Amino acid sequence: MIASRAFASPARLCLRKACHQPTWAPVAFQAQPRRFASTAESDKVARFKGKKGSDGNFTVTLIEGDGIGPEISQSVKDIYKAAKVPIVWEPVDVTPRLKDGRTVIPDEAIESVKKNYVALKGPLATPIGKGHVSLNLTLRRTFNLFANVRPCRSIEGYKTPYDNVDTVLIRENTEGEYSGIEHVVVDGVVQSIKLITRAASERVLRYAFQYAREVNKKKVRVVHKATIMKMSDGLFLSTARDVAKDFPDIEFDAELLDNACLKITTDPGPYSDKVLVMPNLYGDILSDMCAGLIGGLGLTPSGNIGDECSIFEAVHGSAPDIAGKALANPTALLLSSLMMLRHMGLNDHAAQIESAIFATLAEGKALTGDLGGKAKTHEYAQAIIDHL
Ligand SMILES: NC(=O)c1ccc[n+]([C@@H]2O[C@H](COP(=O)([O-])OP(=O)(O)OC[C@H]3O[C@@H](n4cnc5c(N)ncnc54)[C@H](O)[C@@H]3O)[C@@H](O)[C@H]2O)c1
Repeated sequence: MIASRAFASPARLCLRKACHQPTWAPVAFQAQPRRFASTAESDKVARFKGKKGSDGNFTVTLIEGDGIGPEISQSVKDIYKAAKVPIVWEPVDVTPRLKDGRTVIPDEAIESVKKNYVALKGPLATPIGKGHVSLNLTLRRTFNLFANVRPCRSIEGYKTPYDNVDTVLIRENTEGEYSGIEHVVVDGVVQSIKLITRAASERVLRYAFQYAREVNKKKVRVVHKATIMKMSDGLFLSTARDVAKDFPDIEFDAELLDNACLKITTDPGPYSDKVLVMPNLYGDILSDMCAGLIGGLGLTPSGNIGDECSIFEAVHGSAPDIAGKALANPTALLLSSLMMLRHMGLNDHAAQIESAIFATLAEGKALTGDLGGKAKTHEYAQAIIDHL
């Protein structure tokens, strides 16, 4: 008996496309990948398409989220106001609705993100129980957010076993081991398909090279297991080699996943000049490992990059245990918002706020409880404003 599980939509889409394209053929018989003629601005993957309004401001969709979401969002709003960032927030409610038996995001929220091309998102609680799809996953699928970008940098003033971490990891977000294509072959035997397509690989790899240029990293490194997954990781790796030819100013190499884990945890220093890019599952695990090197998820920002729209969010959850008590640390959401500003080309504003955050943390006078201090969320935000 073969009982197919519901396919994840982007993966199903890829599978459908792949079945009609020569990319589904064995690697040896595949046609050469489509290559862009240039790396000009107009050819960029995930280029921000938003425009300033007549008032001189960009409009950004704001999903405040659950639990501590509204508190940490308020800190971001206060700091942005003080720093005179040319942004108007458009708050939206993403409380899921059931439509034709499926969990969907309200149309107004989708329209807002589509119109503004960019959103900042607080944590969303996932209800536990059967039938609930993670809203985070729904957002990722709705906007086809194909790359998850996670920079991790040691923070002065917050001591961890390592003080030289400066990694950037980019995870392919739509396929690989998370394609959701699983079935029972016979009772006691299940099969899960790791779907890798050249199209999705090329898109995330091209984005990784672009990102390396933007953040002045000299190298792009693919992390893989092509020694074992010869076809799937093999395709990811060979696509990377092709894409690398379009970026002669960026060095390219590859490393096995197990070796990368060993080396990063032994000494993260040599990874400071690189952007690491990898298939979905490896990225999921390695990104949390890197977050651990700088003191955990509480200080880690992230960006979910899509073809049209991108959503920036803190990596931590809604922290229901401290919600409403003004104990939350807004740093991760703030740092995520700075990734967003850089994506939008507002680099000077990002640099100004970033310096104020790092100065506040290094000074150590107004830290929140998770960093060993006694400051309330708004007191920490005020200290950052004072450092602007
Ligand atoms: N991206 C997201 O939206 C996202 C990510 C992870 C979890 N979640 C959801 O969040 C809910 C709670 O998840 P969880 O408890 O496993 O993880 P969590 O990250 O919410 O909390 C883990 C621990 O870290 C602390 N913490 C987290 N963020 C903090 C902050 N900014 N400042 C100070 N302390 C902080 C919490 O108090 C808690 O002790 C669940 O519903 C989960 O599904 C959402």
